[in-house]
Amino acid sequence: MKLIVEEARKWTKAGKVADYIPALGLANPHDLSIAIHSPNGECVSAGDIEKKFTLQSISKVISLALVLMEQGKEDVFERVGMEPTGDPFNSIAKLETMAVAKPLNPMINAGALVVTHMIEGNSVDERLNRLISFIQTLSADSEVNYCKEVAKSEYETAHLNRALCYFLKEHGVIQEEVEPLIDLYTKQCAIEMNCLDLARIGLVFAMDGKDPDTGKQLMPSAVARICKTFMVTCGMYNASGEFAIKIGIPAKSGVAGGIMGAVPGKYGIGIFGPALDETGNSIAGIKLLELLSENYRLSMF
Ligand code: DON
Repeated sequence: MKLIVEEARKWTKAGKVADYIPALGLANPHDLSIAIHSPNGECVSAGDIEKKFTLQSISKVISLALVLMEQGKEDVFERVGMEPTGDPFNSIAKLETMAVAKPLNPMINAGALVVTHMIEGNSVDERLNRLISFIQTLSADSEVNYCKEVAKSEYETAHLNRALCYFLKEHGVIQEEVEPLIDLYTKQCAIEMNCLDLARIGLVFAMDGKDPDTGKQLMPSAVARICKTFMVTCGMYNASGEFAIKIGIPAKSGVAGGIMGAVPGKYGIGIFGPALDETGNSIAGIKLLELLSENYRLSMF
């Protein structure tokens, strides 16, 4: 595994860390780490595995799972669609041209903002704590929390996400005030962990929602299935098609450089490599997955 990481690390030079959220610009572009968790409790890892990173868009899969569990799929899919967009993650274009201003899927920012809007609770703190405690259960790490500095940095600069919220509010898709929603969403995106925790969460999805240690169902298998399907069709944004062909693993990326993979029935994968390609996905992380998928025949197709 060490050799594969060092081979893939060469690609970090061709990428760039995200800096539209200023605090993310401080990351070391040459970092790369991976953990692969198996159902029998074995975990293979290599690289800078202790480095923490914020989930960013990876959190969208987990908030979706929570809201599907709390509100049911009818309510969720009344407000957000199931189709890939082919546009960048923060695009407003399709929202404006659709007959109903319903975001196309929960993995783009507009759709994720609607999902976060649906997290229940009387305050931002209560809603955030519900999500964090679900993530602590999935990762089996009670220390998981959000990074205040990254949350603040995104809150201060989230103009495009505010624009999406105002658009959605104008069209009645969301009802709450925009500022608390942006507060909750930026804190959700700033939830941080290392690649070992992320691999553990990926494994729960891979195991149809079962806790790999206790066998307890942490989410209904139907919810895990919906999430994995979105990971295949929209998880890597407008690079999802190429990713499915080359790698063939349900996966979700985030702009801090994380990738969570769920090889159905087999492995959970957590990757961190903050240098990104032009679609906002970890450039060396994708190389790493390509090498792994080829060598170990991980593609589900
Ligand atoms: O809303 C944003 O722009 C970020 N908090 C998350 C975007 C993201 O991770 C897209 N990923 N590739």
